[in-house]
Amino acid sequence: VNPIQLFDAESSTYTYILAAPDSRDAVIIDPVDRHFARDLAHLERLGLHLTHVLETHAHADHVTSAGRLRAHTGASACVPSGCGIGPAEMQLEDGDTVAFGAREHIAVIHTPGHTAGSMCYLWRGNLFTGDTLLIDGCGRTDFQSGSAADLYDSVTRKLFTLDAATRVWPGHDYRGQSVSTVGWERDHNARLARRERDDFIALMAALDLPRPKLMDVALPANRQLGLPADLPHGA
Ligand code: FE2
Repeated sequence: VNPIQLFDAESSTYTYILAAPDSRDAVIIDPVDRHFARDLAHLERLGLHLTHVLETHAHADHVTSAGRLRAHTGASACVPSGCGIGPAEMQLEDGDTVAFGAREHIAVIHTPGHTAGSMCYLWRGNLFTGDTLLIDGCGRTDFQSGSAADLYDSVTRKLFTLDAATRVWPGHDYRGQSVSTVGWERDHNARLARRERDDFIALMAALDLPRPKLMDVALPANRQLGLPADLPHGA
């Protein structure tokens, strides 16, 4: 079973819709504010009922539509407990399961590194890695309590130990790649494959990346599920 992969060209963000094979229930992961109407249209076209909105972390580069989707569909917002996203129905912890449809289960894997609270989600052999593990790369670790050491441990101990055939669906891609596998990234990822921990930490420290343009707007908004603070349940 494949997820539906949707793209935001402005922030190179992927959004995923997971449709339960034997019911009309669906889950969305990391929806982007400006694609609210597009995502609703997809759900409507496919006759899907949105039950959960999941965030992999509090994003610094785009605003989520989680709050608006929740208000419009009645879905529950499920967020990593360590991300400071207050108004959610579920604060997820490592090892939790999000159940939807008749028999669908999403496993919650805490993978600190890109941010301290970042989570990955595993469903039917599909791993949604957020910004923890990207195709041939990884998320930056220089703000939001990020840590290169933590990211290295999360990826090498928790993700690279999954079945090699597990498909990797990243939170972003800047080069047009859409899907990979755990085995491929373990063997070929330019930053992480066959690299020692200290070497990885030094590599990440030397990146010297610019601050995300939207950070001061996106972070406070995303901690409210993308809604203005004075309209916690607005549409
Ligand atoms: Fe991020």
